[in-house]
Order: sequence, then C-alpha cells, then structure tokens
Amino acid sequence: MFSKKQDIQNTTDRLPDFSYINNSDIYMDTSCQSMRPQPVIDAITDYYQTYNACGSRVKYKWGQKVDSAVEATRELVISYLGLPQKEYVCSFTLNTTFGINLILNQLPAGDYEQVITSEIEHNSVFLPTIELAKRLGINRKVLERADDGSLIYTKADINKSVVVVNATSNIDGRLLLNIKQLIQDTHAAGGIVIIDAAQAAAHYQDLLFGCKADAFCFSAHKMYAASLGVIVIKKDLIRSLDKHFVGGGMVSAVREQGYDLLPDDLSSWLEPGLQAYGEIISLKRAIEWLSEIKPQGLKPAEYIHKISKQLYDGLSEIPGLTILNKQPSSVISVYSNSIDAHRLAIFLSAAGIMVRSGYFCCHYYLIEKLQLPPLLRISIGLHTTEDDINKTIKTLKKVLKA
Ligand SMILES: Cc1ncc(COP(=O)(O)O)c(C=O)c1O
Repeated sequence: MFSKKQDIQNTTDRLPDFSYINNSDIYMDTSCQSMRPQPVIDAITDYYQTYNACGSRVKYKWGQKVDSAVEATRELVISYLGLPQKEYVCSFTLNTTFGINLILNQLPAGDYEQVITSEIEHNSVFLPTIELAKRLGINRKVLERADDGSLIYTKADINKSVVVVNATSNIDGRLLLNIKQLIQDTHAAGGIVIIDAAQAAAHYQDLLFGCKADAFCFSAHKMYAASLGVIVIKKDLIRSLDKHFVGGGMVSAVREQGYDLLPDDLSSWLEPGLQAYGEIISLKRAIEWLSEIKPQGLKPAEYIHKISKQLYDGLSEIPGLTILNKQPSSVISVYSNSIDAHRLAIFLSAAGIMVRSGYFCCHYYLIEKLQLPPLLRISIGLHTTEDDINKTIKTLKKVLKA
C-alpha cells in the first residue's frame, strides 16, 4: 500500500523511517546487513515489551499471539517469493550460511551423483558444497557465470545434481538470469536446485518471484529485518532429508530409543529448540514495509536501480579505479591502482563513509582465480540518499587525487 508519509519528493531527503540516522554517517555496507527501518525496530520492541513469550508450546495468551504472528510471517515469506503455500514451507534459522548447511548436511546418500556450484559463490555456498561432495562421495563441479550472471552449463553438467548457486553476487551484483531455465533443466535431469538468495531477497525480488527452486536460503538481516536466517523449502525435499539436527519443539512422541517428528508441522523439522520469535515477527513487518514504501514515488527496486546507476556512473568517471561490475547494482566492487583498498576504507571512514574492504568471503574467485588485490565494496540500500552518493564520489576523488 502506498503511504503518503513515506513519499519523499526532495531528492536529498532520507525516508522518514530512517530519520534516526545521523546525516554525517554514511553507511554503505548494506550487503552485509541492511539498516532497519523504524517500523521493524518498533515491531521487535513491541514483542519484547508486550508479549515476550515462546511459541509452539504454551497455552497462555502471549504465546498464542506469538504463534499466530509466526505463522503469518511464514505465509507472507512464501507469498513474497510468489510460491504456492501447499508445496512449500518456511523455516527459520541463524542466517543464510546455517540454512545452506542444514539442508546440505541432511541430504541423503544415493539420490544424487554430483554437486554443482559456481565460481562466484560466497564461502557459505562454496565450503558446504565441498563438504557435501566429501560426505556423499560424489563429484563436485565449479562452473563459470556469464557476464550477465547466467550459469554456464551443459545438460551433462547437471545430471542428477545438487545445484547450489547464488541469485545475486555479493561481489559485483551479477544476477542468475537463467534461473528458471536452470531449475527446469536440473529437474528434468533428476536433480535439485538450492538458491542462495542472500543478496537477492530485498532488492531483486522480481528475479526470484515464482521460481520453483527446491529451496531458497536467505538472511532477514540483509532485507531490513532483524538478524535471522530464512529457509523456504519444498515439502518433498524436507521429507527426503535425513533428519539429524533434532531437539525440542519438533516431536510428537519420544520413546527410549526413538521419536516421531510432528507429522503436520514440517517447518519445525528444521527448527530444533527455541526460536528467535521477536526477530521472526519483525521480518513480517519488514516485508510489509517493503510493499508500502515509495521513495521518490518509486518502488524499492526502482529506487535502488536509480541510485545504483548514480553510484556506478560516478565511480566510472574516477581515473585509476577499476570497477568489477558490468552494470549498476546495489553492490559494487572496485580497486584502485594507487591505494590499497583497506587504506581507502580507512580514509573514507574518517569522512563518515562506511564501506567494506577485502574479499567478502569470496576467496576462491577473487584470490585464487582472478588474483586480485583486496577490493573496496560499496553497497547501498533504501536508507541511502543521492547526497550520500555524491559525497562518497567526491571523497573518493579527493583521496585518490583524481
Ligand atoms: C551472496 C551471499 N550469500 C551468503 C551470504 C552469507 O550470509 P550470512 O552471513 O547472513 O549467512 C552472504 C553474506 O554476505 C552473501 O552475500
């Protein structure tokens, strides 16, 4: 729903829900975790102050309220991805990394012949796929991604495979443009596709919408909500897992040497123990907020595209700066011929501009394959203003004496 309060006309204004940010602080590390808008902070505070109970196991009124808010969040997450509620469940965990490990560590032996990933993966995909290949004794292939981000594969590459790839790179914003074809081909070849949607969930929802992958893992903390991992998984896949991360909140009966999982509550099968209820509930508010706001009268993805282009164009004008991106994205990585990225980050920080430097957990691709020096990564979000970008470009030019 369009909210008048949120319609910022003046290009230098920040969305009012981020008015708590000091204008001298320019936070540009949104790929790591986004800023939280005030309604999300209010939702989590409301939970802690007015119904601070656990879910799934109590009959008192606070717990009942938690249960209905958590169930509503699960449903909203599945709808946000444009998926049918009858085929998918949503579970919560620590973060994207934990979600991917939870699934891969419980995939049964015998169903798959190989594991496929890509060269531009975060260590949260790269490392668990190495472990999966070892555990199941199957082959692992690391495929290339085209300049537009599509996975380059042949039908033989994906035969009976577990394919685990990101939908959006955290280095250069490349998008998995052939996601639908990849899912179709992998299914036809008897395999499954698990999507790392950590960078896609907030700003590139359109790319994910309606894609019937077998599972999606992402982090609420990268989509304007509190720190939390999200898994959206096909019921068939969750049923096929060898469940061995087990504990409270997921059983209907326990015997001396065995137990039965809750038969009708599949989402609990990936949620052993007490959950982060306030964080879960605040994710619902973040998703609602994403559908309500209209920065400069634009949809969130349109606004992100507009300011990403402003940043990309500004960076392109700086001599001696190499941009890794082929196109604008909410995440842009660069390096300078003259100043090390870590020193650059320190100089920028002195001017109030907070960006990342290093290899962003993509060691294989950036160090081993491309043999690049440390990079500077600028990642923007819905709290970012045009003024923030102008100041960043101006400061970079000054520091690089460009
Ligand atoms: C593409 C991508 N995948 C996975 C992750 C891991 O996310 P988390 O640290 O929340 O598990 C990140 C984090 O930056 C990421 O950018």
